[in-house]
Amino acid sequence: MSLHIGDTAPDFTQDSSEGPVRFHEYLGDSWGVLFSHPKDFTPVCTTELGYVAKIKAEFEKRGVRVVGLSVDPTTSHKDWIKDIDKTQNTTMNYPVIADHDRKVASLYDMVHPNADNTQTVRSVFVIDPKKKIRLMITYPASTGRNFDEILRVIDSLQLTDKFSVATPANWTDGQDVVILPAIQDEQELKTKFPKGYTVVRPYLRTTPQPNK
Ligand code: BEZ
Repeated sequence: MSLHIGDTAPDFTQDSSEGPVRFHEYLGDSWGVLFSHPKDFTPVCTTELGYVAKIKAEFEKRGVRVVGLSVDPTTSHKDWIKDIDKTQNTTMNYPVIADHDRKVASLYDMVHPNADNTQTVRSVFVIDPKKKIRLMITYPASTGRNFDEILRVIDSLQLTDKFSVATPANWTDGQDVVILPAIQDEQELKTKFPKGYTVVRPYLRTTPQPNK
């Protein structure tokens, strides 16, 4: 199935390292990050899952629940998690879906046959509290993800949902943002951006981050 930004994230029930996960129920009113990896007991995946466990508090701060996934079975996940804990000096603290029948992989188009016929690629989905897909990124098996970038995008999505702004290239939380071109009325600009704004071009106006 081909998914797009703005689509409803497909719901599923599937086994995981922490027991069955009913996805929409598991997310509740939170944001969600669902990320797949190719295979258990592989080096890059080991570092990725360990890193996410280490920064879980950063996701929690933003109201985000994280879920990993691969097509390996629960027994394998549980054995591998012991290795992740030991080698990455962490304690795994979120479920890893055991997508043995590729039900979820198929719903989320996580197997790319021209890359590998059976293993999932490194997909990342960010899902909002209305269960809409807000970000989709796909990485090749050979490249570990930058999860700080995922946090950065979540910061941007949560900010731009609340204010009439967008975030420029390489923006990070606390930096100036840009005003949406649709906002042209002077009174509205003054009300929405009381800290003022700079007109670089009529279509490019910067303002301090409104909630800082
Ligand atoms: C890894 O996680 O290290 C990996 C997995 C599949 C292919 C290449 C690397």
